[in-house]
Amino acid sequence: MLYSSVPDGGPSARPREIIVTGAAGFVGSHISTALAHAGHPVTGVDVRVPARPPVPGVCSVEADFTDPEVLDRVRTGSCAAVVHQAAISDTMEQDWAALRRVNVAGTLDLARACADAGTPFIYASSHSVYGSLHERAPVAEDAVHDGAVCTGPLNPYARSKLEADEELSARGTDSYWVGLRYTNVFGTGEDHKGRMASILGQMLRAAATGRTVRLFSDTLHACRDYVPVEAVAATVLRLVTTRVPSGVYNLGAGHPVSFATVLEWCAEVARGRQLDVRLVPNEVPGRYQYWTCADMSKLGRALDGDPRVPPQDVKAAAEALAGTFAGVGGEADDRADGEATGRSSGGCLTPGTPVPSAADP
Ligand SMILES: NC(=O)c1ccc[n+]([C@@H]2O[C@H](COP(=O)([O-])OP(=O)(O)OC[C@H]3O[C@@H](n4cnc5c(N)ncnc54)[C@H](O)[C@@H]3O)[C@@H](O)[C@H]2O)c1
Repeated sequence: MLYSSVPDGGPSARPREIIVTGAAGFVGSHISTALAHAGHPVTGVDVRVPARPPVPGVCSVEADFTDPEVLDRVRTGSCAAVVHQAAISDTMEQDWAALRRVNVAGTLDLARACADAGTPFIYASSHSVYGSLHERAPVAEDAVHDGAVCTGPLNPYARSKLEADEELSARGTDSYWVGLRYTNVFGTGEDHKGRMASILGQMLRAAATGRTVRLFSDTLHACRDYVPVEAVAATVLRLVTTRVPSGVYNLGAGHPVSFATVLEWCAEVARGRQLDVRLVPNEVPGRYQYWTCADMSKLGRALDGDPRVPPQDVKAAAEALAGTFAGVGGEADDRADGEATGRSSGGCLTPGTPVPSAADP
């Protein structure tokens, strides 16, 4: 049975586990690693087997986070926090019933289980809830319904994220919950996302491996707020240990980068090789976000500091990511990530931590 051998944490026991849903995913794997490195035992829940071997301190369980067993486990109050990253993350998904079941109802059920147990609940929302911004200015959380500022969700995925935010907000702030509207997260470990991987990562990979960099022809001056995945993980780590007022917060780098600038970065990554850039027609101009940027003031006030990521740090993170692609072909890189070869139990090395995993023989 799932989790059956994970001991409950008592006052004198080792630190209580933190459950990370979507832990085999891009953001969830980085968050799991950051939490484990900070000394928190992590139980990662995902329907997929992690592609990379989990780090020590992370136990992986192959399960659907909406399973009653998972919710029951949360309701026991034995975990220190639930960090919810699992979702249908494909922004092109059109199956509203599936989006509603996983991204909305599933999130709300998990939040309810946390509230019942008095367990902090931190979950991933999305900057996509704002849709297109009418002004080139950072958008604040409460502007999501202000038609003068933004269009609101442009696709069913974004709608699902906004519904979860709103239904949670309507429940009030008696329990501790935090929704984080990520902008464009980038970093290592998102090969499994294919065309849904960060556009920045896709362009850098193409440049680093001598392939054609493709760009919509109407987006040279479009801008994205790109946030390094390490910065997201660091913020989640802080929110696990630092209480802020319950609510929804933007989480991005807090400044926009144009695609023209990304092309400059690509040219640097190409290291003197001619950069092959192809401008292709935008197939979704009506549903395209031409400018994204998070106003991070609310999070800054809550954390009593400036949570923005300086532009030079974003560029440095992009260069570091490009370095992981350099000299590695796309296929080889996919293999290097170990897709479908990972064993989910391998990293459960915390003394006394059992190894519950549906992937175990
Ligand atoms: N990556 C970004 O730029 C970005 C931006 C905004 C919001 N988000 C949100 O952040 C979260 C993480 O995104 P990501 O980029 O890591 O995506 P991802 O697809 O890599 O990770 C999501 C993980 O959730 C798992 N999952 C899906 N349904 C599940 C279920 N029912 N039970 C258990 N596991 C399930 C998937 O197998 C996957 O491993 C998502 O909620 C996503 O919507 C991401």
